[in-house]
Amino acid sequence: MDNKRVLLASRPTGWVTEDNFRIEAAPLPQPREGEVLVKNAFLSLDPYMRGRMNEGKSYAAKQEIGEVMIGGTVGEVVESKHPKFAKGDQVLGMLGWQQYGLSDGKGLNKVDASRVPLSAYLGVLGMPGVTAWVGLLDICQPKAGETVVVSAASGAVGSVVGQIAKLKGCRAVGIAGGSAKCDYVVKELGFDACVDYKAGRLNDDLKAAVPDGVDCYFENVGGEILDAVLRRMNPFSRIAVCGLISQYNATEPYGVKTIQSILTNRIRMQGFIVSDRMELWPKALPELVGWVAAGKIKYRETVAQGIENAPKAFIGLLKGENLGKQLVKL
Ligand SMILES: NC(=O)c1ccc[n+]([C@@H]2O[C@H](COP(=O)([O-])OP(=O)(O)OC[C@H]3O[C@@H](n4cnc5c(N)ncnc54)[C@H](OP(=O)(O)O)[C@@H]3O)[C@@H](O)[C@H]2O)c1
Repeated sequence: MDNKRVLLASRPTGWVTEDNFRIEAAPLPQPREGEVLVKNAFLSLDPYMRGRMNEGKSYAAKQEIGEVMIGGTVGEVVESKHPKFAKGDQVLGMLGWQQYGLSDGKGLNKVDASRVPLSAYLGVLGMPGVTAWVGLLDICQPKAGETVVVSAASGAVGSVVGQIAKLKGCRAVGIAGGSAKCDYVVKELGFDACVDYKAGRLNDDLKAAVPDGVDCYFENVGGEILDAVLRRMNPFSRIAVCGLISQYNATEPYGVKTIQSILTNRIRMQGFIVSDRMELWPKALPELVGWVAAGKIKYRETVAQGIENAPKAFIGLLKGENLGKQLVKL
């Protein structure tokens, strides 16, 4: 039996293309003493992977050329020579873009898929869900009655941010690309308003959506959207810089024009990486599980079929073709 996998073939300049990846079939790995073999069921595709494809230094080590692409996975243990794992255990790990993965148990966690679907551990009950929780509740710290704006609002992180904001009694305003995404954000997720930044009236539409200004901005996008939101920020407001996806494939960085708002409004702006805040996961996850189980947080998944479609789906994610969490069913 083969293990089909996706390797980084070359580093992109600007936009990622399918040529930056190579798909190959390798022999099925055999676990040694202290190792487990996992059959991956779902692969998570995430914007951070774009940064790892670059040569330059970032907050995490770059992805090496010729190696299996990094990625979060959920799957089932098919063979175990590790005392803590048994055949049939369902596990969450970082086994990469491949059908099977070997693990020595480090970073591999058993998950209970009896009450929630296994795939949820890669989205709303995984890294993106906890990212939303940390950025909103720990960094922005919104109070009831305040206005929270989030960009990439229909996505894995953004959709959870707005719903938590509503649970905390805030006005939740999303920014998303296209009327279908905005309809989903308002009608299904319960945001108070959503601005379609692709409609060409970003500044006016945002102004109308935030009559009392913005107290918290959860930044996922950067570029012109950051400029537009900075114009609407209130005195002593907060910005959690979670991501800047509009810049990940840009060859020239966007120069923010309204930076003066940070001074005049005494804004606190803080970047964060969710993996730096591991101490908050045991607090965040049970809350997220409770909200999802009670139907208070809803989520959607866009699922590509088969490992060979992972590169195309990843490029689609960077272009906004996903609604909710982008996964690959392996
Ligand atoms: N700091 C951390 O620890 C951490 C952890 C996880 C994620 N993140 C960041 O959080 C953000 C969202 O990640 P996610 O996993 O939830 O992805 P996602 O929102 O599910 O998918 C990415 C979305 O970004 C939007 N987008 C792409 N290009 C854009 C552009 N030029 N302008 C405006 N929007 C654009 C698209 O939505 P539209 O169709 O609406 O444009 C696309 O669907 C990313 O920036 C990611 O890097 C950070």
